[in-house]
Amino acid sequence: MISLSSSMLPLLFVLLFSFSWVTSAHTHEDFIECFSLYVEDSTDISKVIYTQNDSSYPSVLHFAIRNLRFNSTTLKPLVIVTPTNVSHIQAAIRCSQKNNLQIRIRSGGHDFEGLSYMSVLPFVILDLINFRSVTIDVTNKTAWVQAGATVGELYYHIAKKGRTLAFPAGICPTMGVGGHLSGGGYGALLRKYGLAADNVIDAELIDANGRVLDRISMGEDLFWALRGGGGNSFGVVIAWKIKLVEVPPTLTVFNVLRTLEQNATQLIHRWQYIANKLHEDLMITTYIRRVNSSQGNPTIQATFAGFFLGGVDKLLQLMNESFPELGLAKDDCLETSWIEAIILNRFPGNTSLELLLDRTPRFVTNYKAKSDYVKEPMPEIALEGIFERFLEEDIETPRLLLVPYGGKMDQISESSSPFPHRAGNIYKIEHQVSWSEEGKEASKRHVDWIRRLYSYMTPYVSKNPREAYINYRDLDIGMNSLAGNTSYEQASIWGRKYFKNNFDKLVRVKTAVDPANFFRNEQSIPPLSSW
Ligand SMILES: Cc1cc2nc3c(=O)[nH]c(=O)nc-3n(C[C@H](O)[C@H](O)[C@H](O)COP(=O)(O)OP(=O)(O)OC[C@H]3O[C@@H](n4cnc5c(N)ncnc54)[C@H](O)[C@@H]3O)c2cc1C
Ligand SMILES: *[C@@H]1O[C@H](CO)[C@@H](O)[C@H](O)[C@H]1NC(C)=O
Ligand SMILES: *[C@@H]1O[C@H](CO)[C@@H](O)[C@H](O)[C@H]1NC(C)=O
Ligand SMILES: *[C@@H]1O[C@H](CO)[C@@H](O)[C@H](O)[C@H]1NC(C)=O
Ligand SMILES: *[C@@H]1O[C@H](CO)[C@@H](O)[C@H](O)[C@H]1NC(C)=O
Ligand SMILES: *[C@@H]1O[C@H](CO)[C@@H](O)[C@H](O)[C@H]1NC(C)=O
Ligand SMILES: *[C@@H]1O[C@H](CO)[C@@H](O)[C@H](O)[C@H]1NC(C)=O
Ligand SMILES: *[C@@H]1O[C@H](CO)[C@@H](O)[C@H](O)[C@H]1NC(C)=O
Ligand SMILES: *[C@@H]1O[C@H](CO)[C@@H](O)[C@H](O)[C@H]1NC(C)=O
Ligand SMILES: *[C@@H]1O[C@H](CO)[C@@H](O)[C@H](O)[C@H]1NC(C)=O
Repeated sequence: MISLSSSMLPLLFVLLFSFSWVTSAHTHEDFIECFSLYVEDSTDISKVIYTQNDSSYPSVLHFAIRNLRFNSTTLKPLVIVTPTNVSHIQAAIRCSQKNNLQIRIRSGGHDFEGLSYMSVLPFVILDLINFRSVTIDVTNKTAWVQAGATVGELYYHIAKKGRTLAFPAGICPTMGVGGHLSGGGYGALLRKYGLAADNVIDAELIDANGRVLDRISMGEDLFWALRGGGGNSFGVVIAWKIKLVEVPPTLTVFNVLRTLEQNATQLIHRWQYIANKLHEDLMITTYIRRVNSSQGNPTIQATFAGFFLGGVDKLLQLMNESFPELGLAKDDCLETSWIEAIILNRFPGNTSLELLLDRTPRFVTNYKAKSDYVKEPMPEIALEGIFERFLEEDIETPRLLLVPYGGKMDQISESSSPFPHRAGNIYKIEHQVSWSEEGKEASKRHVDWIRRLYSYMTPYVSKNPREAYINYRDLDIGMNSLAGNTSYEQASIWGRKYFKNNFDKLVRVKTAVDPANFFRNEQSIPPLSSW
């Protein structure tokens, strides 16, 4: 068993790194030779494989780096494979195994810690950008969506078939369904229909032996593990079959903004008592940020963002019953369709469906984020402590996102999928800080700040374990040995936070399907054989 203290990390990085640098030229040639032999069809492999010598390597690598903190990473892959055929994925797996290379699978590249495109060990990126077809079956209300499609591409194809069909995934259109559904995936339909992963009914996976499996051939335990156990532990998901859901043709959205001077503190405090108890057709998410810093009179502003599956009159009635303090007025509301609500959230003033196909994000910044679950309302005084931290001048853009649970989330048992955060949670918090200032000092200052905030939150959030959302990946909560032989005790530290007792079943599944631990990263499920 090795346990790395953080002070040892830099040395290990240097050692591993110089090692990969010395051997890289040799290994990448061997990999390519192996790949060409393995792929029997007439593929022009120069269109599928990129090495550091190819002029398009930097653009292929950077295209899906979504956190500027990692844009200048030196932990680059020897080879990037962009498969257009299942046989390319099988070849990439075989040839990585033969050459002792790791694989990092990338769909949309939104991993908060960059695990889909960085590794300290010599590695290959398997980038699924060309695996993105979407086939909708309107009669049966199902779809097959390939892993490299973005959520936006999926929504585009659904909307083309009708405005009353939807899917309960996230709102950010550039996320890949490969990673998003592997870790759960939630959006504005969470309280009505649960997670995206709760609506997966079949999957196609390529395992460490190169076998192509579906739900029947993989068995129910592995199928269970894929729906929330996190990507990059069990194999390469190539496609999901999903159940589409129905939404009314007209729904209503609103954004109500309130500063501290407009009673934001009292309203957020009150929101905690109603957010998870509202009718399941209504979801009110709360964003908290600092505004007006540049005008010299900074304050805190809360945005109460409402999403209601119905018309405005019904909404006003519900709000009057359950959250009259917010003072929602008809003028604050917009009646629209589900798909337009999603597009407008991203592109105010334009509802063109084609906007959903754009894979480039609006902007990319440096950021660090963390998650928490809240089971008892926080007192006002605790909120005030958060705001004081938000007003610290040397921090660029702090943000808190409060996502209400309840509704459907209360009805799904903790063990029905690896995602355990169900009944008993009022809301989830995403703590986030982003910055544009360059350099290590700025990075350290912001990361230290969010770690202090996280520590401040301890008394107010879930305990034993302090729960966390795997799609909000956070390496601060613990990680595996980089040698790949993590102990059960070591992995349980972060594993129980993400999965609670489902962690044990995930370990059993991993042991059965990938005992050699080929698919691994800093927070992948370890097999028993590595204890
Ligand atoms: C701007 C932004 C907004 C977000 N909004 C939301 C939100 O509203 N709701 C929400 O739930 N989450 C949200 N997230 C988090 C998001 O769900 C996760 O980052 C998710 O993992 C992204 O999937 P991806 O395919 O884009 O990421 P990637 O970085 O490609 O992958 C993430 C992880 O999954 C693995 N993986 C990827 N593809 C596969 C595959 N095909 N087979 C096996 N493993 C795979 C990767 O190796 C990596 O470990 C957001 C993230 C960002 C950056
Ligand atoms: C893990 O691997 C390292 C490096 O190869 C080795 O020193 C250590 O003993 C291993 N630990 C276990 C538990 O096998
Ligand atoms: C790059 O090209 C040079 C010269 O052609 C070759 O010697 C080297 O091995 C190549 N390196 C990589 C990483 O492809
Ligand atoms: C994929 O590979 C198979 C088997 O090698 C081959 O028959 C098929 O034509 C390939 N498909 C494409 C689209 O290249
Ligand atoms: C990321 O780095 C690449 C290569 O250095 C550069 O071309 C690109 O502009 C950078 N991206 C951003 C958003 O700065
Ligand atoms: C709907 O599902 C049934 C049963 O799985 C299948 O036979 C049928 O072909 C599907 N309908 C369409 C339009 O594909
Ligand atoms: C804030 O709350 C106080 C006391 O409840 C109330 O008197 C006041 O009108 C509120 N202010 C605003 C701007 O809503
Ligand atoms: C920001 O400051 C300006 C100027 O003082 C003020 O008019 C405005 O209301 C402030 N905005 C907020 C959201 O407090
Ligand atoms: C809100 O409810 C109160 C009493 O519960 C009622 O008097 C009032 O008319 C309602 N307002 C609206 C807009 O429905
Ligand atoms: C809306 O977006 C579409 C697609 O990008 C673009 O063609 C169109 O010009 C935009 N319309 C407006 C009014 O900006």
